Amino acid sequence: NNYVVIMAGGVGTRFWPFSRTNNPKQFHDVLGTGRTLLQQTADRFEDICPNENIFIVTSTDYIDLIKSQLPFLSDSQILAEPIRRNTAPCVAYACYKIAKRNPDANIVVAPADHIILKEKEFEKRINIALETSAKGDVLVTLGITPTRPDTGYGYIQYDQSETEVKKVKTFREKPDLALAKTFLESGDYVWNAGIFIWTANAIKKAFSKNSPIVHSIFESGNDIYFTDKETDFINNIYQNCESISIDYAIMEKADNVFTVLGNIGWSDLGTWKSLYEVSDKDEDANVIDGATMLYGVKNSIVKTPKDRLVVIQGLDGYIVAEYDNVLMICEKEQEQFVKNFVADATKKG
Ligand code: GDD
Ligand code: MG
Repeated sequence: NNYVVIMAGGVGTRFWPFSRTNNPKQFHDVLGTGRTLLQQTADRFEDICPNENIFIVTSTDYIDLIKSQLPFLSDSQILAEPIRRNTAPCVAYACYKIAKRNPDANIVVAPADHIILKEKEFEKRINIALETSAKGDVLVTLGITPTRPDTGYGYIQYDQSETEVKKVKTFREKPDLALAKTFLESGDYVWNAGIFIWTANAIKKAFSKNSPIVHSIFESGNDIYFTDKETDFINNIYQNCESISIDYAIMEKADNVFTVLGNIGWSDLGTWKSLYEVSDKDEDANVIDGATMLYGVKNSIVKTPKDRLVVIQGLDGYIVAEYDNVLMICEKEQEQFVKNFVADATKKG
């Protein structure tokens, strides 16, 4: 009864210029392993469920990319959204559709753009989570020990019991910096990894209680999923869907949330700095992917096309990234500017 839903519709703008609207980071081989983030995500679930139980939710624009990267998928396993509505509609679409095929489905929902270094540990946690969700009406999360007061994550306060699976007291999505600092110092919060485990029944119940409009929209598709009317139906209803993440729509409101903790070598590859942190570094603490000649360069990340020789002297703590027709050079500690670059470059066309 195990199913996996991979959310692959984000644009990943903080990874510009590598991540572009027409080719976001989940479709890139970010780590230089030969597999893209999306492929690595699918690989990770090899022993959790059969290939025919993997569903990908994405934007209509990325269907061809997905088909070429995961050729085992049939058309009905690729769920195409006509417009971006964040993760609540994305999760509802997939889980309601799967529920039609198998009302007893036990579902893992995972983002397509994370890395997990400890595969075995990860698999162990997922199996614990699946056993927990199979037993009842609960929403299970994976909790990650926080290392900084990052405001881009969800924070989970859990009951300090000895049990392997912890009851969640509060779920707080993207707190401000002051609150994130308090959470970190208190020691009883973990980050939400953004990976969720629940049965089709449990998530449908949670939508009907906490997000009734989304519930009725996707419930009304029951006769249509897996038929040739599905695309038209989805194209119509998406216009009426509120744009909201699953974290705000469900997780913050639900009172039946649990978390499984574990050191799984998790990283949300959200930014250049996060890629720098998880990558192997040379003796000058540089992360290099490309053909380079470096002189006195340190603490930097250089990711440039292999067919182009890049010569740099004297940079310390920089991001040098070239992709397609854009070259970006930015101080590593100032990477919050990347979103401004994207906005300005979009204006320029
Ligand atoms: N299909 C689809 N449609 N996928 C989407 C959409 C959408 O409209 N929007 C985002 N996604 C995908 C992204 O590609 C990503 O893989 C995943 O859904 C999560 O979306 P993000 O936009 O990256 O969320 P976040 O990083 O801000 O926050 C979430 O993840 C954090 C951990 O990385 C939350 O769950 C946080 O609580 C969590 O800490
Ligand atoms: Mg993310």
